[in-house]
Amino acid sequence: MSERPWWQHAVIYEIYPRSFQDTNGDGVGDLSGILERVDYLAWLGVDAVWICPFYPSPMADFGYDVADYVGIDPLFGTLDDFDRLAEALHRRGIRIILDFVPNHTSDKHPWFAEARSSRDSPKRDWYIWRDAHPGGGAPNNWQSFPVGSAWEFDEATGQYYCHSFLATQPDLNWRNQSVRAAMYDVLRFWLDRGVDGFRVDVLWHLIKDAQFRDDPPNPHFRDKDPPHLRLLPLHSADQPEVLPIIAEMRQVLNGYPGERLLIGEIYLPLERLVAYYGPNLTGAHLPFNFNLMWVDWRPAPILRLIRDYEAALPLGAWPSWVLGNHDQRRVASRLGPAQDRVAMMLLMTLRGTPTLYYGDELGLKDVPIQQHEMRDPFGLVVPGQGRDPERTSMPWDESQNGGFTTGRPWLPLGKDHPAISVDVQKRDPGSMLNLTRALLALRRREPSLSLGDWEPLAVEGDALAYTRTAGGRRFIIVLNLDTAPKAVGFDRDLAGAIELSTHPGRVGERISTRIELRGDEGVIIKPT
Ligand code: GLC
Ligand code: CA
Repeated sequence: MSERPWWQHAVIYEIYPRSFQDTNGDGVGDLSGILERVDYLAWLGVDAVWICPFYPSPMADFGYDVADYVGIDPLFGTLDDFDRLAEALHRRGIRIILDFVPNHTSDKHPWFAEARSSRDSPKRDWYIWRDAHPGGGAPNNWQSFPVGSAWEFDEATGQYYCHSFLATQPDLNWRNQSVRAAMYDVLRFWLDRGVDGFRVDVLWHLIKDAQFRDDPPNPHFRDKDPPHLRLLPLHSADQPEVLPIIAEMRQVLNGYPGERLLIGEIYLPLERLVAYYGPNLTGAHLPFNFNLMWVDWRPAPILRLIRDYEAALPLGAWPSWVLGNHDQRRVASRLGPAQDRVAMMLLMTLRGTPTLYYGDELGLKDVPIQQHEMRDPFGLVVPGQGRDPERTSMPWDESQNGGFTTGRPWLPLGKDHPAISVDVQKRDPGSMLNLTRALLALRRREPSLSLGDWEPLAVEGDALAYTRTAGGRRFIIVLNLDTAPKAVGFDRDLAGAIELSTHPGRVGERISTRIELRGDEGVIIKPT
């Protein structure tokens, strides 16, 4: 195990810092709050934390609009708080991964202020400026996320600037060498402070078509789809010239000891996603693979997804699996609380590096947010696109605000928060939290579960079954994705025993040629 880089056998835990732990009663989580919970992270058994942006920001997109890449927003604390947190994590053997947001800055970033001050500004070309279309209006038809033209007119200088997201998030011009140099200095600033890696925000967006051609219409668009799907982003994203830039980022990281990790946030189909490993693996170590979040939750489609992904991976590339993040509905809400446990067992027994979203270890669900409590700008402009429900605070205990804050939480907690809180679940041996912890512990003990080969296992009965094998040790995983009980038959005598089940009371049970699975039950079997 020690010959493999740490991030191949690691479990990554995503923290949305606004919602993890507040320490000063303002209702918003902070870095000192994460520090207070470091013991919990060690108890849970995660290997690395990725913390969403905490840099100075007007918070138009809650930190994904950065006004200073090398500071800490006072809302979250100070650089000293950051150093204390990094030190405390490292002392417990937990790595720290930052969120790097290179595609766009805040419109309040001094670079943009300077760029928009005049057409002759030395920083003008740090952003993407175009004249109006000859026929008037925006330079081309590119769309922003969540809605509207990707071009905003700047009255003072009479040109449009490009923004892939909100108009308050102008896109940097990554074709400009000074932008690259400045951003690589940002990486060095944090690497020098000891960070172990970066999750790079919207990595596939950095480079746009040099000729600014219109995007073609999406022939599959249906009226009920979100507006940004109207066009195919053929020219506005995923350009080949992004790969050398990622290789340059890797070069910066490679200059530091200890395998600093580069993760890419990339929402693309499998065959395009794997291009981000780069030629000869010079790209991202881990392009995030989000496909488990939309796969049809039945054995056959999931098996097909795993096989297609494994087959698409370039030689030597390491897989990534994700079940949830701060932009998507919570897995417990998508699949329900019973199947959620099976999903966790799947995530922790697949080949590759799993990323776990804070609260998913509790089975935290989306919290319904009333219109007047909505905070996410995406939800305010496009109804239904709001990401507040999956960003609510961590319920630590049974007290009124779940121990998250002594003030008023920035988003309400769910009504069920006492019952699913960390304190309550810690005391219940059959809880989702203790199941997650047991899965993490088993995965850490058994390299076959993290590093081992993955192979599908043909079974009788509609279950998802596969094996994980390394160094002569092998585990068999059998998952019932259905609420109805299932009898699953094997074509030979497994001669094994249940090592772990999503349901209490089965550990040690002998298995030979068949197993009766309860509804929503998953088991890990160890040959004996
Ligand atoms: C990424 C982030 C998301 C943010 C967007 C724009 O997708 O995960 O939260 O709104 O980038 O920065
Ligand atoms: Ca606070």
